[in-house]
Amino acid sequence: MASDKKGVGLSFLDSLADEPPPPSPPPPPCIEVLSSQVSSSVKCTLEPVNISDELTLLKGRVSTKEVFGLPNSDLVPGVYEGGLKLWEGSLDLVKALCSDAENGNISFTGKRVLELGCGHGIPGIFTCHEGAAVIHFQDFNAEVLRFLTIPNVNANLSKKLQPAAANEANHDTGVEVRFFAGDWSQIHELLPCVNDNEKDLNSSGQSPTSGYDIILMAETIYSISAHQNLYGLIKKCVSRPHGVVYMAAKKHYFGVGGGTRQFMSMVEKDGFMAACLVAEVADGSSNVREVWKLSIK
Ligand SMILES: C[S@@+](CC[C@H](N)C(=O)[O-])C[C@H]1O[C@@H](n2cnc3c(N)ncnc32)[C@H](O)[C@@H]1O
Repeated sequence: MASDKKGVGLSFLDSLADEPPPPSPPPPPCIEVLSSQVSSSVKCTLEPVNISDELTLLKGRVSTKEVFGLPNSDLVPGVYEGGLKLWEGSLDLVKALCSDAENGNISFTGKRVLELGCGHGIPGIFTCHEGAAVIHFQDFNAEVLRFLTIPNVNANLSKKLQPAAANEANHDTGVEVRFFAGDWSQIHELLPCVNDNEKDLNSSGQSPTSGYDIILMAETIYSISAHQNLYGLIKKCVSRPHGVVYMAAKKHYFGVGGGTRQFMSMVEKDGFMAACLVAEVADGSSNVREVWKLSIK
């Protein structure tokens, strides 16, 4: 699953399957992390990530041990959800976005984008690079935002976001980049562009400015127990009627049971969104990976 080192695969998730998971602690409180709260107390080294022949982005690398006191490659459900690694799905997602944009299937210009479970935030950074007006990054862990996502945004987008602070509306460019930490069951209380209430799901009389035009997520559906909360959040956040969701994930996460099959089956049963497979990646380096696009029926 993690791709910082090729071949690391699903090892740390597999190890979780050997014993029943301990009950998760209560989730951390939802907070907005300001870009000024970036942390430099841990060494962050920058590495290039090749997106295409024309575009190379930068990603930081920090030690999980130094940030969380956990061994590298570890994931502790409900405590640290793996955001310090760059997972393969993130890059699958960016490639799918590139190709959909090239084919005229999507434009990012002026759009409101939410990246859920962002970790490094490379897909959200890409949409900002391509002209999105609002990019909100969400991660379970505030530490991931402080130690990694904000440094990545600064490394890739500083020219675009200057001279205003990255978390404030930039009066020159109109770009708004903000960061939110918290659990999918609660974060809607904090996210600025959430639809007013669940009732709106069956009505069309909502404000045209509410909701996100594009929701992105990569490698967020490995745990079946989180599917309902994540999908519920998407429904609360997606702009109606034209908002879309791009989701990159593995077909199956061995050992933990999640995957695109289970998630899509839930989406299909619910009936609110239609799903379309936009990319399939079977490169032999890991389980088959997919990118799906969801739109409102
Ligand atoms: C495996 S990481 C993927 C990170 C990044 N998207 C990537 O592909 O490189 C899973 C991400 O999902 C988020 N996540 C997992 N469970 C969550 C939960 N219950 N509530 C909020 N976020 C959660 C975490 O923020 C974590 O960064």
